[in-house]
Amino acid sequence: MPQDKKPAILVLGKLPEVAQRFADSCTVLATNRNTLTDTLHEQGPQVRLLATRGGVTIDDALLARLPQLEIIAGYGVGYDSIDAVAAARRGIVVTNTPDVLNEEVADLTVGLLLATVRRLPQADRYIRSGQWLQGAFPLAPSLRDRRIGLVGMGRIGKAIARRLAAFDLPLAYHSRQPQADVPYPYYADLLALAAAVEVLIVVVPGGSATQHLINAAVLAALGPQGILINVARGSVVDETALVDALVNGHIQAAGLDVFAREPHVPAALLTLDNVVLTPHIGSGTDYTRARMSDLLLDNLASWLAGKGPLTPVAETPWPRG
Ligand code: 8YV
Repeated sequence: MPQDKKPAILVLGKLPEVAQRFADSCTVLATNRNTLTDTLHEQGPQVRLLATRGGVTIDDALLARLPQLEIIAGYGVGYDSIDAVAAARRGIVVTNTPDVLNEEVADLTVGLLLATVRRLPQADRYIRSGQWLQGAFPLAPSLRDRRIGLVGMGRIGKAIARRLAAFDLPLAYHSRQPQADVPYPYYADLLALAAAVEVLIVVVPGGSATQHLINAAVLAALGPQGILINVARGSVVDETALVDALVNGHIQAAGLDVFAREPHVPAALLTLDNVVLTPHIGSGTDYTRARMSDLLLDNLASWLAGKGPLTPVAETPWPRG
């Protein structure tokens, strides 16, 4: 039998668009965390391209089983599930899907903030359970008397700041470096920012550098009127410390779109009335997900055409020196 010379693309997680686009020109191997070991065993040595949804950790040990791998295309702006440094060492390019989701995630963030402060899901439950017939919904906290601190001022942080500027609320931010194009006060010290505001919005990349950045000390500094919003990665917040702070009134409330062990959410959070939970939907609309998958596919197509990656991550040396 003639050998199949088509490039093999391994697809990790549900990304049917890859087969739709490349079924004719490539061998598309769909897999998931349950079938991965077998697929690697049978097909690993042939795989040249990998598309991932981000649910499975791609570490150096996994890369070692893909000796022909040239490119990993991630679906999402965050790529903390991929060891991009190990990939770079092996000469493997990593791409993500930046920018196309900035406005969508910023929209969701503002919605989650309003829902948390004004207790919108609780108000909805109040009507559904018939409680309105017994009396008015209790007055909610306000956004009016708050200063807002952004933890992270990258592309999504800036889109959030642009929206919140229209709310006539004072903004400040913490990030590794002050941003030249941002007019808001910069705090090099996260604890000082937390102490200076009544809302903290977390929008930094995940990964070891930001693991548990939001800890008990930061939550204590945020204080009993404080609200935490996390749309970044669950790993950035110490969830045990957060539950403790919410239960004991060290902060007022939290709005969370991301969790450390998705789709598992700490049981304690499910029972708390001062928390609004959403299931990692920051970029989750037809409109934006289509743009994310187009960018992932375009990165693969560009690579296959010999034109290099469109959106390589910072750790990928490109153009190659
Ligand atoms: C996910 C995200 O990629 O872009 C990111 O970093 O967190 C999301 O857009 C999306 O949930 C797909 O898994």
